[in-house]
Amino acid sequence: MTHQVSRSPFSKPFHMKTLGEGVSSRPQRRHTLPASEFRNLTPQDAISVFEIEREAFVSVSGECPLTLDEVLNFLSQCPELSLGWFEEGQLVAFIIGSGWGKERLEQEAMTQHIPDTSAVHIHVLSVHRHARQQGKGSILLWRYLQYLRCVPGLRRALLICEDFLVPFYQKAGFKDKGQSAISVANLTFQEMEYHIGGAAYARRNSGC
Ligand SMILES: CC(C)(COP(=O)(O)OP(=O)(O)OC[C@H]1O[C@@H](n2cnc3c(N)ncnc32)[C@H](O)[C@@H]1OP(=O)(O)O)[C@@H](O)C(=O)NCCC(=O)NCCS
Repeated sequence: MTHQVSRSPFSKPFHMKTLGEGVSSRPQRRHTLPASEFRNLTPQDAISVFEIEREAFVSVSGECPLTLDEVLNFLSQCPELSLGWFEEGQLVAFIIGSGWGKERLEQEAMTQHIPDTSAVHIHVLSVHRHARQQGKGSILLWRYLQYLRCVPGLRRALLICEDFLVPFYQKAGFKDKGQSAISVANLTFQEMEYHIGGAAYARRNSGC
């Protein structure tokens, strides 16, 4: 929907080319794909997203956080709350979020996007299996949290995760809010919260 897309702090989709790039005064040739690119996802990315997600979760728990239809819904409704990392045009890691209006996450948060709220629900962070344990998950999460500072009105990021990933999210600055009310196929989760602070400072210094 145009309304939600327009909430993105960027006039164009999130697009940063950084890692390993030098600064050159020569005109850029456009015949090669960027080595590394971060941008908001679109519904056209849904298949690539789902392939990574399926491999990451189905073999482990038999369940994906998001079905293909849900991926498509969220990337249509709130693309500005997603972020993908592409290397030479291939998706290697992604985050999908949606808006949520209550203090704690509830079962309905799994399928709903509530527009114009102060919290983002991070549904899934996933890294392609060939790219794991190289710091990419942490870097993408960090960039996403920085990016959220520029999205007007956002104050908190929430997610649920299994116990074994609590230290991973704590390292990124999330606080453990205790056991979540949400359960999926007999799995229980911890709810994690991140305060998106320093917005004014971040906006002044990040070109938001
Ligand atoms: C979890 C995930 C996003 C981490 O991304 P990554 O790029 O591999 O992680 P990084 O290299 O940035 O950081 C590695 C740290 O992640 C944590 N971690 C990653 N996978 C883990 C696992 N299976 N069990 C416990 N800790 C894990 C550890 O803290 C690890 O640090 P260590 O190697 O010092 O123990 C990635 O492994 C993945 O996509 N897993 C499958 C999908 C998933 O579980 N997503 C999260 C829930 S939505």
